[in-house]
Amino acid sequence: MSQVTQEKVLETLRQIIDPDLRKDIVSLGFVRDLKVEDGEVSFRIVLTTPACPVKDEMAKQAKQLVSEIEGVKSVNVTMDAEVPKGRGMSNSDIENIKNIIAVSSGKGGVGKSTVAVNLAVSLALDGAKVGLMDADIYGPNVPIMLGVKNFKPYISDRKLVPVEAHGVKMISMALLASPDQAMIMRGPMLHGVVRQFLSEVAWGELDYLIVDMPPGTGDVQLSLAQLVSLQGAVLVTTPQTVSTADVRRALKMFETVNVPILGIVENMSYFIPPDAPEKRYYIFGQGGGKKLAEEFNVPFLGEIPLGMEVREASDNGVPIAISNPGSPQAQAFRKVSEEIARQVSIEAMKPELVILTRSK
Ligand SMILES: Nc1ncnc2c1ncn2[C@@H]1O[C@H](COP(=O)(O)OP(=O)(O)O)[C@@H](O)[C@H]1O
Ligand SMILES: [Mg+2]
Repeated sequence: MSQVTQEKVLETLRQIIDPDLRKDIVSLGFVRDLKVEDGEVSFRIVLTTPACPVKDEMAKQAKQLVSEIEGVKSVNVTMDAEVPKGRGMSNSDIENIKNIIAVSSGKGGVGKSTVAVNLAVSLALDGAKVGLMDADIYGPNVPIMLGVKNFKPYISDRKLVPVEAHGVKMISMALLASPDQAMIMRGPMLHGVVRQFLSEVAWGELDYLIVDMPPGTGDVQLSLAQLVSLQGAVLVTTPQTVSTADVRRALKMFETVNVPILGIVENMSYFIPPDAPEKRYYIFGQGGGKKLAEEFNVPFLGEIPLGMEVREASDNGVPIAISNPGSPQAQAFRKVSEEIARQVSIEAMKPELVILTRSK
């Protein structure tokens, strides 16, 4: 019987291609701590996000392939994740934040905050370290959606300690000032608040910091996008507000400041009646968001159905992804979140992929 070697195992694992990065998992450096002893093989596969949609399948495939090697008696695969650091994230203030993702839209009321909150808790459910910055200074409603509107952050070690809710660290103007106080802030002061939210909050180590952006595509967004070294932006639309002009404006804005568009999420895509969950009503027409994504050549990240439970969950302070994880809306949020994590990984791995290709 032939001896099982590390080389043999690695050669076998090279058959597994990461579907997004389009390289084999050995070249990508995903296979770690490989041990081969008397035909007993163990290793870890370290992916670029804990929210990887193909995680389980890849584990199965790896186990299957390695166990087919002659002489292998057992295979122990552990799946793990290390989120890579996005570009421009070396600023010492934020060196422990790996990726900052803006949730933005051309118009208000499309569900930006709802998407931001459910994205944050979904990524946390997948095992990522997540922060949420409510940058909607004039209409901050994230604290209500997370059920912590009466929490007052305290200062420790000269930093503001964010509130933790449903596995997510969060800071919002609503926690700091009365609504009237927030209203009198303008321009440079606002800039100052956002800067403070970034560098003077004790975020600790974060895989993802989600930023719930203010509505519109004005100065606030622009300065914010410049200030926070965004890894990418997610654009939220609804079928009834899908307006080419709005999206074009938002895309242009992020382009100006060199921020990649991670993709478009269509919220309130179709209605699921609570008494007939198998039905779907496309009240405002079907496929608008997807078409828009195609038109602008950006990824389409998915559709979130309309449902009273979504609003109720937000009003009650427990996002639907947590309060009713089996609901179609929660599942849609989980799927969209995995899609966003995927796009972030692809963006973050771009420079390394170039190096990998060159060294071949
Ligand atoms: N998929 C959905 N189904 C039902 N209600 C929703 C959905 N998404 C958002 N809403 C509701 O629509 C309103 C506006 O959403 P919000 O997230 O505050 O929008 P924005 O931040 O873009 O202004 C809120 O009352 C929210 O609960
Ligand atoms: Mg909002």
